Amino acid sequence: MSANRPRVFSGVQPTGNLHLGNYLGAITKFVALQENHDCLYCVVDLHAITVWQDPKELEHNIREVTAAFIAAGIDPEAHIIFNQSRVSGHAELAWIFNCVSRMGWLNRMTQFKEKAGKHRENASVGLFAYPNLMAADILLYRATHVPVGDDQKQHLELSRDIAQKFNSDFAESIAAHGFGETFFPLPEPLIAGPATRVMSLRDGTAKMSKSDPSDMTRINMMDDADTIAQKFRKARTDPEPLPSEEIGLEGRPEAENLVGIYAALAAKSKAETLTEFGGGQFSAFKQALTEVAVETLGPIGAETKRLMDDPSHIDSILSDGAVRAHAIADPIMRETKQTIGLLTD
Ligand code: AMP
Ligand code: TRP
Repeated sequence: MSANRPRVFSGVQPTGNLHLGNYLGAITKFVALQENHDCLYCVVDLHAITVWQDPKELEHNIREVTAAFIAAGIDPEAHIIFNQSRVSGHAELAWIFNCVSRMGWLNRMTQFKEKAGKHRENASVGLFAYPNLMAADILLYRATHVPVGDDQKQHLELSRDIAQKFNSDFAESIAAHGFGETFFPLPEPLIAGPATRVMSLRDGTAKMSKSDPSDMTRINMMDDADTIAQKFRKARTDPEPLPSEEIGLEGRPEAENLVGIYAALAAKSKAETLTEFGGGQFSAFKQALTEVAVETLGPIGAETKRLMDDPSHIDSILSDGAVRAHAIADPIMRETKQTIGLLTD
């Protein structure tokens, strides 16, 4: 890791099947950023337990997300892959942020409203405070660049608000300690490209998600070729042929979603995709879509399975990553404590 390359942090929850939304919205970006950044990619197990997880499945899922990161092309030696709970600073800084962040800010979070649904009184306190932990994840390393899907935009804005409030609440102490003018940098979300919000294959207005009860709504990173073909064949569309220009996708969420997926997988723009397929029927387009998806996901799924056959190798990668993450986090955590008046060693 070099000192002057911008630092990237991002996380994925180990809560079940990784899908095409995770892959296109986040993991492909993680891979690309490695070239010019120092990256920390975290399996956020403490976020996962904001909703009850079966302990055996959680263990399995932590290893599987790790394996998928590596299979997709993240280099755990040049960069850092680790699981969140191994570095105690995440939980410690999250507590401090619980005391900086405001109830009113968290009350506005749409993801909490969606996840808690009608049973808000019964949601865990952790689910409500979740965005404070996410801010801690990023700021524990003073990371400046955060690749995420579109659904995390609001959480990133909250992270910026927390950083800003901390910097201004403790401005005097930060200066007195000689910790510079901005103690925490304001992290920038990296959300770009044709597939920042991949939608369900059965409903173009709902996000593709791990928790949807129907497996037909999503392409899982571990699906085999036949399953991928079947899911795209059955994906909802409308009776019109594909338009030749992007404007023609308006009001056609299912068509727009499939075009976005194809564009992202084939490394093209939506406009280029429509130049190629505009005027044609969905059946031919779906075949092309299946081909490019199988070509991309097939090898990643196979490599993930291969890595999962050797759990001790995966565990050693996570443990090594945690040691290196700790080394970055510890001095920042110590300065944070000193800033707010907590005595340290
Ligand atoms: P999660 O599975 O909630 O931990 O999400 C991990 C990453 O995948 C985050 O950066 C999300 O924003 C991204 N992500 C999840 N679902 C989608 C989706 N349907 N489309 C695009 N990105 C997504
Ligand atoms: N909240 C993110 C999600 O559900 C995962 C996450 C946790 C994250 N901590 C993070 C993403 C820090 C980016 C940076 O998708």
